[in-house]
Amino acid sequence: MHERYALVVNEDDSILSPDEIVARARGSSVLFVTATERITADVIGQLGPELQAIGTLSVGFNHIDVAAAKAAGVRILITPDVLSDACAEIALMLLLNACRRGYEADRLVRSGAWTGWAPTQLLGKGLVGRRLGIFGMGRIGRCIATRARSFGLDIHYHNRRQLDAAQENGAHYHATLDELLRHSDILMVAAPGAPELKESINAERIGLLPPGAVVVNVSRGELIDDDALIAALQSGRVFAAGLDVFANEPHVDPRYATLDNVFLTPHIGSATEETRDAMGWLLLDGLQALARGEQPGNLLV
Ligand code: DGY
Repeated sequence: MHERYALVVNEDDSILSPDEIVARARGSSVLFVTATERITADVIGQLGPELQAIGTLSVGFNHIDVAAAKAAGVRILITPDVLSDACAEIALMLLLNACRRGYEADRLVRSGAWTGWAPTQLLGKGLVGRRLGIFGMGRIGRCIATRARSFGLDIHYHNRRQLDAAQENGAHYHATLDELLRHSDILMVAAPGAPELKESINAERIGLLPPGAVVVNVSRGELIDDDALIAALQSGRVFAAGLDVFANEPHVDPRYATLDNVFLTPHIGSATEETRDAMGWLLLDGLQALARGEQPGNLLV
C-alpha cells in the first residue's frame, strides 16, 4: 500500500466522528472506511471534488449517504461475496448458542458453580425438524441455509423476490415478512440494513412468531426494535436470542447484558483472517480497476 498510495492511517482503529474524518481525510482522493464510520452528505461535501472514491470494508452500506456520493460523482466500492461464508458461520454460532443456552453453559463451568450432570440441567431447543425462517435470502442468507440444512432445519424465507428452484433448494418462500414470522421457530435476520427496514421486527411482528421462538440477527441492529425484543426475552415469549449487531454500535442497549437468554458477539460476522484479507484485496483490486477505467463487480455506484 505504502508504495502505491500516500496513506493517512487511523492507526489505533479509533471510531472517528464525521468531523474528525473530514479533518484527517481532507485532500484525499480515496476514503477507506468501515461500517462504523458515518459518511454523511456533509462529509462528502466537505471533502470536495478531490474525493473520487469510497471503499468500505463491508457489504453493508447504510453508513454512507449513497445518494450524496452519487450526486458528487464519488464511486463506492463494497465487499460482497468474500464474507458470506464467514458471516454464515457466525450466524450458526449464534443460532446454536441461543438454542442450546451457550452463555449460561459457559458461565456455569467457569464460575465453578457446576455441581454435576443433571437430567433437567440447561435444557435447550433441538434443531432437527424445526423451521428456520430466514429474512433476507441474499448471498449470506443462502450460505446460512446451506449450513442449516445439515442440522436438519426446515428452511423458510422471505425476500423481495422468490429465488429460482435451484437456489431455493427446497426452501419455502413466503411473500410477506408476516407470513414468514408465523412459520419461524427460529428467525434469522439477514436482510440488508436499508432505512425502510428499520425496526421491521417490532412488538406486533414478534407477536406473530410461535411462542418460544428464537431470534438471531447478523444484519444490522436497527432492523430490530430493542424494547420489543427485550420485553419478549424477559417474558419468555421469545426463548432466546443471538445478536452480532446492534443499534447505535458500539453502544449496546445495557439491558441485553442483564439477560441470560441472549448470546452476544461484537459485530464479528466477517472477522476471520482469510475474509479480512479478501475484503481488503477486493477493495484494492476495485480501485485499480477504476483507475483503468473499468467497472469492477463490487462497484455500488
Ligand atoms: C458488513 O460487511 O456489512 C459487515 O456487517 C461488516 O461491517
